[in-house]
Amino acid sequence: MSTLTEQATTTAAQSLRDDPRIAQAKALILQTVAEHAARLDGVRPPRPELADHYQQLLSEAAAARGAPLFWPYLAAGLGHGPYVELADGSVKLDFIGGIGVYGCGHSHPGTIEAALGAAIDDVPMQGNLQLHPPSVRVAQRLIELAACEQAPLKHCMLSTSGAMANENALKLAFHKAAPADRVLAFDNAFAGRSIALAAITDRPSYRKGIPIALSVDYLPCLDINHPERSTRWAVDELKRLLARYPGKHAAFWAELIAGEGGYYPGSHDFFAALCRPIREAGIPIIFDEVQSFSRTSRPFAFQHFKLQEFADIVTLGKITQVCATLYRESFKPTAPILSQTFTGATSSMAIALSTLDALQASNCFGDDGQNMRRHRHFAAGLERLVHRHPGKIAGPFGEAMMIAFTPGSGSGEDAKWLMDLMFAEGLLGFVCGSNPTRLRFLPPPAITTERHIDAALELLDQALAKFVPTA
Ligand SMILES: Cc1ncc(COP(=O)(O)O)c(C=O)c1O
Repeated sequence: MSTLTEQATTTAAQSLRDDPRIAQAKALILQTVAEHAARLDGVRPPRPELADHYQQLLSEAAAARGAPLFWPYLAAGLGHGPYVELADGSVKLDFIGGIGVYGCGHSHPGTIEAALGAAIDDVPMQGNLQLHPPSVRVAQRLIELAACEQAPLKHCMLSTSGAMANENALKLAFHKAAPADRVLAFDNAFAGRSIALAAITDRPSYRKGIPIALSVDYLPCLDINHPERSTRWAVDELKRLLARYPGKHAAFWAELIAGEGGYYPGSHDFFAALCRPIREAGIPIIFDEVQSFSRTSRPFAFQHFKLQEFADIVTLGKITQVCATLYRESFKPTAPILSQTFTGATSSMAIALSTLDALQASNCFGDDGQNMRRHRHFAAGLERLVHRHPGKIAGPFGEAMMIAFTPGSGSGEDAKWLMDLMFAEGLLGFVCGSNPTRLRFLPPPAITTERHIDAALELLDQALAKFVPTA
């Protein structure tokens, strides 16, 4: 397939990029970064001489933010694979990566090289009126990735956040289904932090004092212990809602693996049983893959669950550094409802492309691809810890490269306590869900090895030895 860049080989900008001095400079920088990063090849404690300085930085961060940080994490700016150096000189095994944004781990040469290329571009931020060819290539690559499993998502709008990608998705759905104005979503949903998305997100505290911008009807999730019963219940509930509000629903909103809700996957049968009547009722189907993109057996979780026929609009973000809304031809808006000054940084576009290359090159995908194999290895290790530390840790363990477990009693206090103990041991994971509150890991799929997972399990084992769950 020809690309815009290939057609534009004669521009001055292209000769700059092709100038051998640029290649030499990049090589020198990459070699220098690699030499420094090589020191960060394992967990290490904070440096006592940096302790005061670090406390000062944390206080400044809290003052600027208006609240303390959720945990004492301030990165130093260098890492190595899944290891990250903090500004206190400690090195942590980072299995959360800013909630899944490090597809290739820290200070990855491909990421740095992509960013260096972007640094000499005249346009720091891409947008609707300042677009360059790599932006177009990102959109094309995402459309191709969807199409390779027969999802006819013909168009792609890029954006700077998952929330904006989801806002764009909602706009497309409302635009098509007007005047319908209700949304169907799941219990425990998390869609983002805008005013409209706070209405979908099933956490009252996240919309305290915020007007309810949308009318949302909630469906129960799949209960893996009672799949048939819970599917029947969800379908009955759906039918009841469709009968109560005929023609009023403009969107069915689904995370195929509940992310902030606690890392609970659905299944093909569960979603298909709901999507069929939803499709019959002419309600647009939106899959929110902001957290799940590229973490299952396929680039998209809707492909993993074989739900291609139902995907009308799909959003993604995090690991790609740039967020996106993909949609079918029939959802092309007939009015200028989508437009953004900024669709993403030039470096984000370059890093998105290099990350997508790295994910494919490291065989993340496939029924027995790395993502599924790493999950099995991780889950088997967690199962061993369940027996080694009775009452301290329980499954289920999530799906593919979205790993989670329930600490102790499942209370928020237990999860926070174990998270802090892991942090002190040098392992980064983060809370998700409520009732029970769980801990999750989002290892960088392109570079995580079994050795890294074993190192994480060993650190978790040490943290569990110090953890005394509340009754
Ligand atoms: C499923 C899901 N949707 C949307 C978002 C919002 O993305 P962002 O924080 O980039 O706005 C998130 C973020 O965690 C998410 O997990």
